[in-house]
Amino acid sequence: MDVARRRGAHAALATTALLASALALSSAATAAPGKPGEPRYSAGAAGAGDPYFPRAGNGGIDVQHYDLDLRYTPPAPAPAPLEGRLEAVATIDLTATQDLDQFNLDLRGLTATSVTVNGKPASFTQPGDLAVERPEGSTPQPNELVITPRPKLKEGRSAEVVIEYGGTTRQPVDIEGVPYGWVTTRDGAMVASEPEGSATWFPVSDHPTDKATFTFDVTVPKGLVAVANGDLTGNATTGNWTTWSWDAPDLMAPYLATATVGNFELTEYTTKAGVPIIDAVDRDIAGTNRTTTNATLALTGKMMEFFADVYGEYPFIAYGSIVDDDSLGYALETQTRSLFSRRATEGTAAHELAHSWVGNAVSPQRWADIWLNEGWATYSEWLWAEHRGRATAQTAFENVMAIPADDEFWDVVVADPGPTGLFLAAIYDRGAATVHALRAEIGEKAFSRLTHEWVDRYDDATATTADFEALAEEVSGQELTAFFDVWLHTPGKPTAW
Ligand code: TRP
Ligand code: ZN
Repeated sequence: MDVARRRGAHAALATTALLASALALSSAATAAPGKPGEPRYSAGAAGAGDPYFPRAGNGGIDVQHYDLDLRYTPPAPAPAPLEGRLEAVATIDLTATQDLDQFNLDLRGLTATSVTVNGKPASFTQPGDLAVERPEGSTPQPNELVITPRPKLKEGRSAEVVIEYGGTTRQPVDIEGVPYGWVTTRDGAMVASEPEGSATWFPVSDHPTDKATFTFDVTVPKGLVAVANGDLTGNATTGNWTTWSWDAPDLMAPYLATATVGNFELTEYTTKAGVPIIDAVDRDIAGTNRTTTNATLALTGKMMEFFADVYGEYPFIAYGSIVDDDSLGYALETQTRSLFSRRATEGTAAHELAHSWVGNAVSPQRWADIWLNEGWATYSEWLWAEHRGRATAQTAFENVMAIPADDEFWDVVVADPGPTGLFLAAIYDRGAATVHALRAEIGEKAFSRLTHEWVDRYDDATATTADFEALAEEVSGQELTAFFDVWLHTPGKPTAW
């Protein structure tokens, strides 16, 4: 596969140290004394409590909906700098989950200019000390928009928060230094935010535990197309600008949102099973990249049927692929609209589509649980290859197990790889091997109950590795502690399980 994100082994960070700093962060609340039953106002925490990314997401709020109104000016032709301009209004519906005199949203590299809460102006800051380093070791960047609503928000109260913001866009990078978030390209932007890069393009509670619905109005220079999640609800041109409107009514983790801008040709159709498809292929893709992409996209309906057999009915209102002509060299399972650089190959397309069930409908509760996404999507890729008469899943498993025991590939705790280890090859391939070994361990009947029940039970929500282990034991009636210890919780090549 040509997913350049898959790395060699890195030293995993010491999780205990990270846990300690996350705990220190969450005790920052300033509770005021009050009578029983009286509101006790305090500040929401600056993070959702994920030890890998202590500032990602926010405490004290639960977002229901993001309405993003973006106006984007892409860079001028080279040799002008690769910088775009974003001017935006985010209208966010949220509920207070505690009595709040203050709460945060995540926003990085862009500046808020106005904030109202329930129509009333609120004071706000983007403090320099609430920062993150992207990449690790670089200059910290402010990551929090701190909002002080007046009147204060009682627990259970819903609020409409309107934020005007904007700034210059470049190519933000993740903790490892790889471009993500609002990635400015010469002809637009490629927007792919895993794991916590959504804060580079909208104010957000940027953690999978806070899923929400989304609507988008993306205004771009006439001739360009902005492609977001869900259904295309319209496009309207006024003067030299076109506004593309999208509606994504399925609950979505923020890292799966996109609003990719480019020179796209849209193709719309409905699969035999009745799922509306919207594909967006960059008009500049030609030659073998175009041939490969066309052949792959023609398989979408068949792939959806195949994975519906494995996991149950396709979980969202629409699907489609964005294939952008850029040199970033990666793919992401942006919800209902998978994103590919340069070309879509069959294996990668199967992988990203399978994420609809494993990753998107059911999302990781903590980033440490990432193998639940990548191990399962890779295993899905194996199943699709076998279905197409290529290598069997057993052969793919044997290929992984042929990696020598002293290879650094095996130096990873799959269920706790550390924040810089999320996309190591082992998360994908050893994760998939874990699934294959589990299938042999529990048998076909239990395995099929597991795949279906997993998606059924945790649809629209998040789940942990412990939830997964418990379900595998439940559907099989087997005790699997030793099995999961070897495969998921111990570094080193599994030899007996
Ligand atoms: N989840 C992606 C995959 O396996 C890889 C990925 C991680 C990624 N972070 C990203 C892709 C950021 C694009 C941008 O297909
Ligand atoms: Zn993946």
